Amino acid sequence: MTPQTLILESHGPVALIRLNRPEALNALNAQVLTELIAALAAFQTDEAVRAVVLTGSQKAFAAGADVKEMQALDFATIYKGDFLSGWAEVAGFRKPIIAAVAGFALGGGCELAMMCDMIFADTSAKFGQPEISLGIIPGMGGTQRLIRAVGKAKAMDLVLTGRMMDAEEAERAGLVARILPPESLIDEALKAAAKIASFSQPAVLMAKEAVASAAELSLNEGLHLERRLFQSLFATQDQKEGMAAFIEKRKATFTDR
Ligand code: HXC
Repeated sequence: MTPQTLILESHGPVALIRLNRPEALNALNAQVLTELIAALAAFQTDEAVRAVVLTGSQKAFAAGADVKEMQALDFATIYKGDFLSGWAEVAGFRKPIIAAVAGFALGGGCELAMMCDMIFADTSAKFGQPEISLGIIPGMGGTQRLIRAVGKAKAMDLVLTGRMMDAEEAERAGLVARILPPESLIDEALKAAAKIASFSQPAVLMAKEAVASAAELSLNEGLHLERRLFQSLFATQDQKEGMAAFIEKRKATFTDR
């Protein structure tokens, strides 16, 4: 079914997802979540899709979870329904995904960007966790992923005061990988995604898995996992091809085998 809150574009091996609720600055409601989960599930199994870029509009990546939808909810309802648990499916997407952020990435919007593997921001980007001003706290990973990205000092500052951080501060703090001019944000994100898509997919997936696991594991467990993944790549034809191509001074032709 065609999504109503997303625009999906195909750029060769890269799928571009644009959040599309301009009337609400891309606030994340139940429909966005359902449609995003469905789109990612389709991309997961579609061999033609090798990387994804997720973006919003020039004014907002996403201004948070939809406050108008949440306002009337009560504890019993959201506890029984395990409200927000569906976002784990988005965070569990296995292919590389880049968030291209312009404008506001607030609350759930900032949390959604952090579920991606890296964040490219244009100079207009503003990140924040303003939930405290609504009488709540972040609920889609803001207290956990933000501290891992920017450390305790800034995470506490943003979560407790609700203030916003601009693109430069976010890059300095380690939240943002690259800052770009507004006119080249999407192109650069697509270019980086296409570059990733050109490599051997097993290596790309393992690289993502290894880096992502660093947030979950002890150093020793992480090093062990990395070593085992590294070793396992020597069972692939792409390792032979990649190294042969280097030695023969030619471009590698990967087959994902
Ligand atoms: C629902 C939202 C919204 C949101 C904006 N809108 N953010 N609707 N949920 N999170 C709607 C406004 O109500 C308004 O609709 C329209 O989008 C335009 O917004 P304005 O406020 O008029 O724009 P502007 O003056 O430019 O201010 C932009 C803004 C502000 C600073 C981003 O909209 C804002 O503070 N938004 C809320 C940010 C926030 O608190 N996010 C965290 C949400 S809680 P109308 O119909 O009035 O024109 C959260 C928790 C996540 O994310 C995890 C647990 C669920």
